[in-house]
Amino acid sequence: MSQEHREQWGSRTGFLLAAIGSAVGLGNIWRFPAEAYDNGGGAFLLPYLIALLTAGLPLLILEYTVGRKYRQSPPAAFRQITRPAEAIGWWQVAISFVIATYYATIVAWAVRYTGFSFDKDWGKDPDKFFSGDFLHASDPGMPSSWVGGVFWPLLIVWAVVLVILALGVRRGIERANKIFMPLLLVFFLALVIRAVTLDGAAEGLDAFFSPDWGALGNGSVWVAAYGQIFFSLSIGFGIMVTYASYLGRRADLSNSALVAGFANSSFEILAGIGVFSTLGFMAQAQGVAVDEVVNGGVGLAFVVFPAIISEMPGGPFFGVLFFGSLTVAGLTSLISIVQVVISSVQDRTGMRRLPAVLVVGGITAVVSLVIFPTDAGLSILDASDHFINQYGIAMAALVFLIVVTRLWMAAYNRVGWWRSLDPFQSHANASSAFRLGQWWKICLAVITPVVLGWMMVDSLRDEFDENYSGYSTEFLFWSGWAVAAGALLIGVVISLIPWPGGPTRQSGTDLDTAEPTSLDKEAH
Ligand code: ALA
Repeated sequence: MSQEHREQWGSRTGFLLAAIGSAVGLGNIWRFPAEAYDNGGGAFLLPYLIALLTAGLPLLILEYTVGRKYRQSPPAAFRQITRPAEAIGWWQVAISFVIATYYATIVAWAVRYTGFSFDKDWGKDPDKFFSGDFLHASDPGMPSSWVGGVFWPLLIVWAVVLVILALGVRRGIERANKIFMPLLLVFFLALVIRAVTLDGAAEGLDAFFSPDWGALGNGSVWVAAYGQIFFSLSIGFGIMVTYASYLGRRADLSNSALVAGFANSSFEILAGIGVFSTLGFMAQAQGVAVDEVVNGGVGLAFVVFPAIISEMPGGPFFGVLFFGSLTVAGLTSLISIVQVVISSVQDRTGMRRLPAVLVVGGITAVVSLVIFPTDAGLSILDASDHFINQYGIAMAALVFLIVVTRLWMAAYNRVGWWRSLDPFQSHANASSAFRLGQWWKICLAVITPVVLGWMMVDSLRDEFDENYSGYSTEFLFWSGWAVAAGALLIGVVISLIPWPGGPTRQSGTDLDTAEPTSLDKEAH
């Protein structure tokens, strides 16, 4: 697609709402509270904030800058930094593809549970209802039967997402976020206000905020904090590069990243307050300690919450707010994840939007609809989520940083790797009120790669020690690895397909005030 015709956001607010809509998702509502609780409660907030400031925000600014500077989706944009980096772009596209297939499934569950909330259809045993009556989950293995109760809502979710994407960036994505985000805010504020006024809320908040300072000495707590920031801010899977590629030349980058980053974290902490107040209510009603009702991941949203909704006065209303919030937050994130895949294929092939949505979005939807509404759906989802998060997002971000800061080249021919971030710094500074200084480069060239490298070593050690938290079968363990390694392999293979002429180069924008450095020239 020629650069002159690239779509653009209608307004800065529209872009910001879409970026916040992408960041605020399932990860904020059920992942963050459970992560925080497992990793030292209130003390987790410290590594979390440090991860936000040293890795999350600097990388978010870099992704915005790369997207806006080249005005293309990750493969084409990264290719312009250095040819081999196109493979990292396709790797991120493959990661987004995998995430989209299962993320949509969780949104479909939330849609169903919004409906179940009215009559508390899960009955007296929400755990049995979820895995048995609802998902018909079998032992891990190949899918052998179809689950209509998940298929139909999933089909609706895909239809909604593809229609929004077919309408385009401004008329589809931007408009959808302008409707969904205020709706989410109203739902969520109502939910949190109800939660903190429940009996026992104080007990829950106490459990959430009481710091276990000892946890700070534990490496895995820091790993969890950095992992949470990556997933939550939607960095490392190409989304923010893609969204920023639709920005106008004068758009503020660094300030927008700060606003989106802090909005996401505020929402996350608010979610923690809401969820733990509710858990406190349950603990008090059952006369047990809060940690006995806490359950991470999928179990927290679809097992513990239904049990609580059954117990509380006005439960159905609360249920609709909770599952409605999950649905809306999930939809706006899902839209951004699928957009990465569609826009990358468009940039590579020159396909128009509608055929690209039908073919690329259609294939993603079909894969999701074939694999997940089955008896094996839950276990495949769990394994894909675990491996693609641990060895997809964070690893792709690490390799990207190594390439972009050219650490290898620096070691080899002593090029000043410190200066390799200069073109991005000057590009961002040329249009941003908040100016990037040395700290930004220190975070990206030193702190984040070191922490991400450590994260990889630490998770791999745990992986083989515990064989994936002890409950997985060997089948799932190796399938999970196949998904994570497959994403990388596909990225490399696609990048090797000849691309005559390469991406349409955006000749220096009017904001590239800095003279190209020798590194910049050498990259093109
Ligand atoms: N950032 C999105 C989430 O938190 C993917 O769910």
